[in-house]
Amino acid sequence: MTITNLARPEISCLYGYESAGQMANTVRLHANEASWSGSGTPFDQPMNRYPEIRPEALRSRLADWYSVPRENLLVTRGSSEAIDLLIRTFCRCGQDSVTITPPTFTMYQVYADIQGAQVLKAPLVADDDFSVDCETLIAACKTDTKLIFLCSPNNPTGRLIPRATILTILEARRDKSLVVVDEAYVEFSRSNSVAELLDEYENLIVLRTLSKALALAGARCGCVVARQEIIDLLDRVLAPYALSTPVIGCVMNALLPNRLAFAAKNIKATVAARDELAEQLRKLPVVERIWPSDANFSLVRFHDVDVVREATADAGILLRHFSDEAGLSGCIRITVGSADENDMLINVLSNISVNTNV
Ligand SMILES: Cc1ncc(COP(=O)(O)O)c(C=O)c1O
Repeated sequence: MTITNLARPEISCLYGYESAGQMANTVRLHANEASWSGSGTPFDQPMNRYPEIRPEALRSRLADWYSVPRENLLVTRGSSEAIDLLIRTFCRCGQDSVTITPPTFTMYQVYADIQGAQVLKAPLVADDDFSVDCETLIAACKTDTKLIFLCSPNNPTGRLIPRATILTILEARRDKSLVVVDEAYVEFSRSNSVAELLDEYENLIVLRTLSKALALAGARCGCVVARQEIIDLLDRVLAPYALSTPVIGCVMNALLPNRLAFAAKNIKATVAARDELAEQLRKLPVVERIWPSDANFSLVRFHDVDVVREATADAGILLRHFSDEAGLSGCIRITVGSADENDMLINVLSNISVNTNV
């Protein structure tokens, strides 16, 4: 069987949207656009024309940046949209399932719930720094499990999934499930992208985003990297003109060599700041435990999380609390900020007096 047989049958019969494409040296009387451009636009390009149905120059540029052939890449509105697209393309409501490894990125569950796909859970092993247990994961999957979401490095634990674990899962579910490796934070890790395994595994899908390492969360741009047959399927479901003219311009600009060099410097600085912040946090009496991280955040367990919540809120510092999630009592995810922001956090936490018997 080919891997595209896993798609919903009604998607396999669709064609990608083709109307009102961009053609050089033509008079555009086919798209009901305005022939004039409004003044006072905050953007520097005219806005009266639709953008490209699919931004081809951006696709090629991103493919270069991620070192994959352009046919293997689909540009999306952040990797959030890619998760939604995958679930809508492959999961039949009330019939198919996805497998996730909690605690992990919450949007896999949200988009599965929206589509009516069952969510199967293979919890991370808390006693082993939140590692993925291959056996538990493979056993959790059913015949109609279409997608397995692996987040590497994982949000919120920060841990990278070893290549051997990913390979075991890819192998075990070869013709049965697509293995989606979400690499939103991989640039902050010690690992290369697993996209280099694409030739070997047709059931591999990799998600990338420009929101984190390239500091473009406001632009909403990410991508799916997969076999061309899968990209073609997803392309039929993706909204035409998904990326707006200013976003395409902004991201093309961010991918110029000098901007990428600037980003690379900042990624290195973020990793150094993460490790320094972790070192400082580890010394504080309020901190019970801090996990090693391969991302731009750290997961920290506090002796008394309510006191930390109050002190940081009073100081206007926003942190992401996870106490309500299984295995994460007392845990907070802390994003690496600027040097001043990190100092401010350490200052506030240093001033909390601790009763470690709580
Ligand atoms: C693991 C993971 N995947 C995907 C996303 C979505 O990122 P975006 O939609 O901004 O590309 C996030 C955002 O926080 C994330 O943590």
